[in-house]
Amino acid sequence: METENQYFMHGGDYNPDQWFAYPDILKKDLSYMQQAHINTVTLGVFSWHALEPEEGKYQFEWLDEVFDQIHGIGGRVILATPSGGRPQWLSQKYPEVNRTNNLGQKHTHGFRHNHCFSSPIYREKVRLINQKLAERYGDHPALAMWHISNEFSGECFCSYCQENWRQWLKNKYGDLATLNHAWWMSFWGNTYSDWSQVLPPSPLGEHKVHGMDLDWKRFVTDMTIDFYLHECAPLREKTPNIPITTNFMAEGHATQDFIPLEGIDYGKFARYVDIVSWDSYPDWHNHFESLASTAMKSGYVHDQYWSLKKQPFLVMECTPSYVNWHQFNKAKKPGMHMLSAMQQIAHGSDSTLYFQWRQSRGNSEKFHGAVVSHDGSTQNRVFKEVAAYGARLEKIKEIKGTTRKKEVAILFDWESNWALNRGGGYGRPTRRYQQTLQEHYRYFWEQDIAVDILTPDQDFSEYKIVLAPMLYMMRQTTMEKLKRYVANGGILVSSYFAGMVNENDLLYLGGLPEPLRELFGIDVLELETLLEDEHNEIKYQGKSFQTKDYSAIIDAQSARVLGAYQCDFYSGSPAITENQYGEGVAYYHAARTNGDFLQSFYSQLAKKLNLRKEAIAEANPAVSIQGRISAQRSYYFVMNFSEVDQAVSMLKRVVDLETNQSVENTVLLAPYEVRIFYVENEQQ
Ligand code: GLA
Ligand code: ZN
Repeated sequence: METENQYFMHGGDYNPDQWFAYPDILKKDLSYMQQAHINTVTLGVFSWHALEPEEGKYQFEWLDEVFDQIHGIGGRVILATPSGGRPQWLSQKYPEVNRTNNLGQKHTHGFRHNHCFSSPIYREKVRLINQKLAERYGDHPALAMWHISNEFSGECFCSYCQENWRQWLKNKYGDLATLNHAWWMSFWGNTYSDWSQVLPPSPLGEHKVHGMDLDWKRFVTDMTIDFYLHECAPLREKTPNIPITTNFMAEGHATQDFIPLEGIDYGKFARYVDIVSWDSYPDWHNHFESLASTAMKSGYVHDQYWSLKKQPFLVMECTPSYVNWHQFNKAKKPGMHMLSAMQQIAHGSDSTLYFQWRQSRGNSEKFHGAVVSHDGSTQNRVFKEVAAYGARLEKIKEIKGTTRKKEVAILFDWESNWALNRGGGYGRPTRRYQQTLQEHYRYFWEQDIAVDILTPDQDFSEYKIVLAPMLYMMRQTTMEKLKRYVANGGILVSSYFAGMVNENDLLYLGGLPEPLRELFGIDVLELETLLEDEHNEIKYQGKSFQTKDYSAIIDAQSARVLGAYQCDFYSGSPAITENQYGEGVAYYHAARTNGDFLQSFYSQLAKKLNLRKEAIAEANPAVSIQGRISAQRSYYFVMNFSEVDQAVSMLKRVVDLETNQSVENTVLLAPYEVRIFYVENEQQ
């Protein structure tokens, strides 16, 4: 193991408390870790029972020993707070700590991640155990970071949470008349006349009010952050210099998607963590898309988590082989672990951490992959591939902590997504906001043009081009920001659905809001949903492109029409427009198009804006190139996301970071191969 901090974290969840009865197995862990080039372990994620088996009776000796052992081999510890899995005695003695569902049913103990975030007793018990952990390990030289709880998610509807909900609404709206207006409660005559009538949404009661649903989701995000901050307080007090994180998630496997979790506004949450971390489980080797498509989606999520702080993030969990919860839990084929893990680093991660070190012997995750499998061998393929990866990470450690340079931004707004998904009309199953953003991203990924995915609250003034398709909910401040951006020379692309509602999901009256009308030089007259197999066509630069799902019917005012519809009652009307505004240009896509159109549209913009000027090779859709940059060097990860050899035509002379050989002309990549090159910055 390495001794200083200037290395990529390689390791993961270590659960010795599952193995107390197997001292022989535990004894092997340390030397195995060294063989696997592991330098970091996450301890304590579900250890509350092992640390406090009875109320107020703590046993830290086992954890002391593990801390010292890890330190002894030069490793570092990410210490988790244990609130993600509370002990039986706690739920039994204080049932209020368990969640209540939206039917009013109280949960009994079991499973995990299911505490009430309002319960005063739960908060107090969590504060106590966190304080103990901070006191005991705060000065331990191996302590690298705090990991708060685990994968925060979900909601509670108990009386404490209801009270907090009403208070949250009072703080936000002040009086009931304002609330009634914001939620449009005069519809169906449901106007509130007393605060005590305001309950959380429930299938047994109010569940059709869009403004309420939106606020409930905001409230759940705020309560989750509030609980997180409550957990942080005793740690900050004792260890002000130890960074704090909590692991974010991605979702969508049942639907063949791979997108950042939608349920919590991570854009907001990220402001409170010192470093963003997330758990990455793409469905590699699936039967529904090419490997490159899976890699594109995985790259997108990495880019989004990078962009939350525009700083290196951590991959807190991933699997070295398979998971146990995809539809088909495929093993990573030889070489795939190296490729998929290097992709994390390429997109800005400073770690590869696994769930988990040793495969569980029983219970619900016993078939989940791990570094050490049930065979307990260091000679199996998975272990050897992890070790090879760890060794390679050590060789490229100078890349750790480096930044990324981007000229393209996509805007994504969690709140807008919630609102958009909630509305009844306009074909709900086809909304697919994040997936549509990924279709726009695809062009840039295939061209090796790096992209940030920002929330509208972040600063996007410096990007050459900003994509904001489907930004349904727009605050006045966002519209003004977009106007300023374009007026100062920015290039903006937006689409159908953009700017329809305000922050309460109330429609803007009188057509497209004035600032957007000026910016795009159009007005939107109607929005039409297409049937599943229905298409329109757009004529654009002499070619026909099929559209799907949505057509906005628009009127071009100052905008120039670049493409017009070819079918249906709006045939001949504008579908793609361009409007010069100040020093910049705003484009509007009235229809949802396929990849062929997006490719043709964006390739022209990319050429015009010279977006590939830093490319080191000809673009190849199966080979992804992502870069990181330090003050001295620009690094390039060249990754073959295909099952065949790929010849990459270099545009520049680069140096292989691992061999120091200089490379030009053509580089031949074997299936799944990754090469890492650099160029000295001053030579550029
Ligand atoms: C999540 C959890 C882990 C484990 C893995 C399995 O990321 O945080 O505890 O359940 O999933 O993939
Ligand atoms: Zn509750």
